[in-house]
Amino acid sequence: DELRELYQEVILDHGKNPRNFGSLDDANHMAHGHNPMCGDTLVIYLHTDGDGRIGDVSFRGQGCAISLASASMMTEIVKGKSVAEVEKLFHAFHEMCTHDDPDIPEDVDKDALEQLQVLSGVREFPTRVKCATLAWHTLDAAAHDQGEISTE
Ligand code: FES
Ligand code: FES
Repeated sequence: DELRELYQEVILDHGKNPRNFGSLDDANHMAHGHNPMCGDTLVIYLHTDGDGRIGDVSFRGQGCAISLASASMMTEIVKGKSVAEVEKLFHAFHEMCTHDDPDIPEDVDKDALEQLQVLSGVREFPTRVKCATLAWHTLDAAAHDQGEISTE
């Protein structure tokens, strides 16, 4: 179907041409995120401005096509947003990846969530939810200076 086609396209596009890939020279936060199910690790670099907004973000690491596409897409989506907004979006995305009838709060960025919708197909494959959310977990860990996290 249409969403499935779009899903393939998005994964291929971000896989071939990942956005914001590499380390960030002026990062003031970073974290390593590890998916123990496959051994893949992503590193997220963040530069937050004084008011808690994400001025810049990048990632590097090894992962499957879904985790890399999700990381690439995430870096585009979160730039300019506050850490609090990003957390809300992460929870909504997680909800969308795990529930057929997700409970989405009113105040979440709907445009961003719509872009992420394409990855919600992982719902059918529970182990893939970890792939799709690895970058988000790691971003969250970076924002809170947790150093490294494992998605268990
Ligand atoms: Fe559900 Fe991380 S909180 S996969
Ligand atoms: Fe390792 Fe997807 S298989 S992150």
